This record gives sequence, C-alpha cells and structure tokens, in this order.
Amino acid sequence: MAILVPVSSWKSERLGFWRLNGPSWIVQLGRRDSTTASLTLANSDLPAPTLNLSNLITAFSNKGFSTQEMVALSGSHTIGQSNCRFFRARIYNDTNIDSTFATSLKTNCPSVGGDNNLSPLDETSPTTFDNAYFKNLQSQKGLLHSDQELFNGGSTDSQVNAYSTDSSSFATDFANAMVKMGNLGPLTGSSGQIRTNCRKIN
Ligand code: HEM
Repeated sequence: MAILVPVSSWKSERLGFWRLNGPSWIVQLGRRDSTTASLTLANSDLPAPTLNLSNLITAFSNKGFSTQEMVALSGSHTIGQSNCRFFRARIYNDTNIDSTFATSLKTNCPSVGGDNNLSPLDETSPTTFDNAYFKNLQSQKGLLHSDQELFNGGSTDSQVNAYSTDSSSFATDFANAMVKMGNLGPLTGSSGQIRTNCRKIN
C-alpha cells in the first residue's frame, strides 16, 4: 500500500517532530524499494573513500550533481563514524594530515588489525549537525582521504572556506541537495514495491 501524504499537512504536523538539530527538509513519501540488490552496482556507483577530487566530481556528476552539491552533501560527515579500514591508509600514508590528529587515531586503528574499530568522521562535534566538518578540513583533520580531497589546494577549497564561516548557507545547500538526491530515479508504476517492513522485501 502506497503511503501518500500531502506534503503540506505532513509538514505542519510532523516537521517539528524531526527537527533535532541542523537543517530540515520535506521528505517525499511513497518511495518504492527495489526487490533486488546488486553488490557490483553498489560498489561501482558508490564513491570510495580512496577517490581523489577529480574522481569524486565525476562520481557525483554521473548522478546529475554539481561539484557544489557534492561538497554540500559531503558535509553530512559532520555526524557518524567510519571503520578503521576505510581511513587506515590515510592516517599512515597521507601527508596532508595534521600529525597530532593522525597519531591520536592510530591507537584505535593499528596498522594491522582492528579493521572494524570506529572513529568519528567529525572529531570536533561528532553528534552535532554543524559546519565543523569544513573547519576540520581546513586544519587537515578530515578523517577519510576523500574528505580531505575537498580541501587540498584544488577547486573546492573556496567552497569549504565559505561553508566554514557560513553555516546557514551550508544548511540551505545541504537540504536542497538532499531533496534532489531523494528524487534520483524513483521507481514508479509496478516497479519495485512498498515495503511493509523497511528492513526487508515483502
Ligand atoms: C563524497 C563521497 C563520499 C564518500 C567517499 C563516503 C564514504 C564514507 C565512508 C567510507 C563511511 C564510513 C562507513 C563505515 O565505516 O561503515 C561513511 C560514513 C557516512 N557517510 Fe559517507 N561518503 C560520501 C558521501 C556521503 C554522502 C553524500 C552522505 C549523505 C548525504 C554520506 C553520509 C554518511 C554518513 C551519515 C556516515 C556515517 C554512518 C554511520 O555512522 O553509521 N556520505 N561515508
């Protein structure tokens, strides 16, 4: 059964409920899920944390996102954590990393073992949705190699600088890009299904 809720009434009734911190936006409901999954496709379409700036720009462009939208969306790494195996190469091999930051991460992410140990993507304020992620990049404290690529002397440095001083423009751009992402090729008609349990196919 499709759940189609008029956006206006949903907004007035529910939006405040979800506004914990950070930006908010209207989520389009009634999205259908695929009944199949492809590991190969996921791995080819999802950007890897080892990508350089050029490849990140291409990965997002392939989905219709501008470089500016890519930088805004990356700001979601203001919350959440990463497994050690995704940032090990960065903390042991990269040179564009704050040395104190790298040393502190090595305790929880040894060069061998501890693959699944977690560290926050934004060490400054790991559970608050703010623009500290961009300030961290300016201090070479991006956790993932891909994070630091956004501020490494390239074309996106200026936008990182802008978001680091203007959290409201980050919030606005992030919310708009999230709505756009939610509109990426939704399944329609009889394709896919509306799940009765979000975690599994019916
Ligand atoms: C720019 C390219 C991106 C790359 C290379 C990337 C990579 C990663 C990696 C490797 C992790 C750690 C996953 C784990 O250890 O389980 C992660 C976590 C996360 N990413 Fe991204 N990501 C990117 C963009 C995004 C975007 C666009 C969003 C959403 C708008 C996003 C939201 C998150 C969140 C919320 C987490 C934390 C998950 C958790 O704590 O469980 N990321 N990302």
